[in-house]
Amino acid sequence: MGKLVICDHPLIQHKVTLIRDKRTNTKDFRELVDEVATLMAYEITRELPLQTITVETPVAETESKIIAGRMLGIIPILRAGLGMVEGIVKLIPGAKIGHVGLFRDPETLKPVEYYTKLPTDVHERALIVIDPMLATGGSAIAAIDALKKRDCTQIKLACLIAAPEGVKAVQEAHPDVDIYLAALDERLDDHGYIVPGLGDAGDRLFGTK
Ligand code: PRP
Ligand code: URA
Repeated sequence: MGKLVICDHPLIQHKVTLIRDKRTNTKDFRELVDEVATLMAYEITRELPLQTITVETPVAETESKIIAGRMLGIIPILRAGLGMVEGIVKLIPGAKIGHVGLFRDPETLKPVEYYTKLPTDVHERALIVIDPMLATGGSAIAAIDALKKRDCTQIKLACLIAAPEGVKAVQEAHPDVDIYLAALDERLDDHGYIVPGLGDAGDRLFGTK
């Protein structure tokens, strides 16, 4: 079974509270999601392999560590995943970005795929799938399915807020995938919304409601 990591650093918890608040406007919401994504990236990349190189400081030559040329890919699930991209890429500027477009049918709650564009070497990369919300888990499972269909094997999932139902569904469908969250909430409501959650992440990020 993959790891379930709750990134509960005080800065993350503080910012998630502001993100949840219905009075937070679109501009602040977007900035806070970006900031939390950066803080989570710190935890998600904790196990990146390092290599030692020689570097000359103004004082002396020394051995020092750099990331060992690991090829990374960031895979936002459209739309709301876009809100986390910059926050992560800031720390990993060499990562390639692939997009998986899915929306959740409001009646069936099943994901509908409408767009996929991935780096040609995606199967060689360690991937981080990002989406602020993990509700039923249908969208995350479909995005990971799409990556596995293209022979990707190293996949992590990072979401801001999850329902236990979504975590369980992803763990059952993809037991090899580690899941990183900023908060694990109580449950889903009858419309598949996370309680207490933050409402509709896409609408709050892009001001569409
Ligand atoms: C939201 C969210 C996830 C999905 C989560 O997207 O960003 O992708 O719902 O729900 P699930 O775990 O039950 O699949 P939505 O379908 O509203 O599309 P949007 O990002 O374009 O607004
Ligand atoms: N998608 C969202 O944007 N919010 C939820 O609570 C569930 C799915």
